[in-house]
Amino acid sequence: MPHSTTSAGFFVTLEGIDGCGKSTQAKLLAEAFRSLGKTVVATREPGGSPGAEEIRPLLVEGHKTRWLPETEFLLFTAARFEHFRIVIGPALSAGKIVVCDRYVDSTRIYQGVVRSDLRRLVDLLHERLGIRPPDLTILLDLDPEMAFERRQATRSSEMRFESFGKDFQRKARQAFLGLANENPERIKVIDATRALEIVAQQVFEAALEKHRE
Ligand code: TYD
Repeated sequence: MPHSTTSAGFFVTLEGIDGCGKSTQAKLLAEAFRSLGKTVVATREPGGSPGAEEIRPLLVEGHKTRWLPETEFLLFTAARFEHFRIVIGPALSAGKIVVCDRYVDSTRIYQGVVRSDLRRLVDLLHERLGIRPPDLTILLDLDPEMAFERRQATRSSEMRFESFGKDFQRKARQAFLGLANENPERIKVIDATRALEIVAQQVFEAALEKHRE
């Protein structure tokens, strides 16, 4: 039976602070749906479409002072608009499942709350641009200390947001939890300290439950 949240497709996003394991869990969730015979588009932000992937390095590389928070917000939103119009929207219209590693809640939290006070502008611009909200968002909740340890194994050139420091990550965690509290119907919080397989099972169960609604 099709779920009732939207007219077509099923749209799941994964969110959380850096090092919470969402990229791994996004891949596992896509595989789990595919094993049921579903057509899945697994994608990520910033990026996910050719133009948005060109914008990505501007945002995730370089010095933390590279952009003013407002410019950063506009660049993330520009990348998202491309991604939504070119990849996510068409996939959902074709009835596919879309699993996206980060999406609008990252902008709400990082640019809207932690970097600057832009929450209302984030909501307004997304609404005006017709960027569809997800049907379900999985928030992988993890203590920033533990997340930092996990990140040490995967250092890359994309460290701009890590360079904002641990206090930044702590604020982001609290803001994500606050957002989940405001949106209990859409955002499911999952404890990311547990073993990878247990987290994967909980993520899949939450997604199946929402998909059946
Ligand atoms: P991502 O590639 O998901 O990093 P990771 O896999 O290390 O979690 O995202 C890169 C950074 O971009 C991440 O630190 C959070 C930040 N970000 C924002 O600040 N706003 C946004 O809208 C998005 C999508 C990401």
